[in-house]
Amino acid sequence: ISDRAFVINNKNFHEYNIRFTNIDIFGSLHNILYFCLILMIHMQIPDIIIAIDGYSSTGKSSFAKIIANEFSFLYLDSGALYRGVTLFAIENGFITDDCTIDVPGLEKAMENLDLHFGEGGTYIGDRCIEKEIRSLAVAGKVSPIATVPEVRTFVDRKLREFGKNKRIVMDGRDIGTTVFPDAELKIFMTAEPMIRAERRAAEMRAKGQDVDINDVLKNLQERDYIDSHRATSPLTQAADAIVLDNSHMTMEDQMVWIKEIIRERFGL
Ligand code: DC
Repeated sequence: ISDRAFVINNKNFHEYNIRFTNIDIFGSLHNILYFCLILMIHMQIPDIIIAIDGYSSTGKSSFAKIIANEFSFLYLDSGALYRGVTLFAIENGFITDDCTIDVPGLEKAMENLDLHFGEGGTYIGDRCIEKEIRSLAVAGKVSPIATVPEVRTFVDRKLREFGKNKRIVMDGRDIGTTVFPDAELKIFMTAEPMIRAERRAAEMRAKGQDVDINDVLKNLQERDYIDSHRATSPLTQAADAIVLDNSHMTMEDQMVWIKEIIRERFGL
């Protein structure tokens, strides 16, 4: 049985595919019972928004994706939209190498910017930009772009559209404080800087990039600083967020942790 969450006309849908791998009646019965169990669990989870905020490279998106998968929610990566605007700004000359931003020019151009999520990630119009937005060139300019209030208004409007149908897990920096201050469950993720830098460096090395751990640490600290000190919607822990310091936790540990919280909060 597989479950795929997707969006059409801003409505969340789930597609269940059941594939019978044998014609054994007991095996099929087992599959049907399993499917019913998943449906019951799905129906029991209330319509809520789960907001996951925190520092760079704390594993927010991996954690959010697994939660979304576990509870058949839609996962949304708010950082991808900031990265999309950054790519657009770089390609159209609205940001210089030293990060001077032509704000009026960018604001005007965003009126016609068709930035959205689609099959396989983030798109501008018909063009999938998922690979480009993960590049170092974009990573180096996204925090300054995300300080621009006009950019935040543009992204927030898109993000809030998704919230109308609830049943979403969204990760970012200001989801629980600004985008969805009424989210039913807010998690604030943190981890020791060196541990985050090591995780990030390992990811980059796995992609074949040659990285120096000190450069990665410096980049993380710079981004944390800019994200936490900007005037509009800085990265801060919402008063009602639950802190998750995953410095010494595996993903399994984190799932046990969140399931316990969901069980306690929502009586599941
Ligand atoms: O999660 P990420 O690393 O892909 O985010 C990229 C940048 O976007 C990050 O440096 C800060 C910014 N961002 C933000 O300001 N607010 C959000 N809700 C999400 C991301």
